[in-house]
Amino acid sequence: MAKLVAFYSRADENYFGGQYRSITVGNTEKVANMIAKAIGGEQFKIEQKIPYAADYQTCIQQAKADKQANVRPELAAFPVSLDNYDEIYLGYPNYWGDMPMAVYTFLEAFDWTGKTIHPFCTHEGSGLSGTERKIARICKGARVTDGLAICGSNVDRSTETVRTWLSGQGDRK
Ligand SMILES: Cc1cc2nc3c(=O)[nH]c(=O)nc-3n(C[C@H](O)[C@H](O)[C@H](O)COP(=O)(O)O)c2cc1C
Repeated sequence: MAKLVAFYSRADENYFGGQYRSITVGNTEKVANMIAKAIGGEQFKIEQKIPYAADYQTCIQQAKADKQANVRPELAAFPVSLDNYDEIYLGYPNYWGDMPMAVYTFLEAFDWTGKTIHPFCTHEGSGLSGTERKIARICKGARVTDGLAICGSNVDRSTETVRTWLSGQGDRK
């Protein structure tokens, strides 16, 4: 069975330890690339049909409004099926102490019975914020492993952290 690295990530303007910077590849996407390379997995980028604004302040307000309204933003596309995958590495940025609502859209679209989900997130201080439990609640019948949380400002020097986490992911939980 193949492995899939499914992730949500946003480029454009972001906030790094006190200052704004415009980036072309988002933090979570960088971690997703490291994981895909290490495990030889395929990748799927979870993208909203209508992306949030490139401007950081507008984006955080849009994401906050979507969380408060508990909406499920429409996605640009879905994988046809997850039948070929038994292990899914699921990556997302921490948005307001939660996953972006588009990740809920993605998770609720599939039957996760018998699959293993390896959550990983990037953040600026909040870590995983209990998102592993939320994933387990939605993805009935899946095994959800201990997640990986990497501070977004540190992704470029996190290769070793990712490798160590991956080597522990075979352990049953
Ligand atoms: C809408 C929004 C909300 C965020 N909320 C939080 C938060 O509650 N806690 C936190 O630690 N970081 C928060 N962040 C920071 C992101 O989690 C962090 O920059 C992450 O690495 C972005 O990943 P990306 O570049 O893959 O999109 C937020 C960022 C955005 C854009």
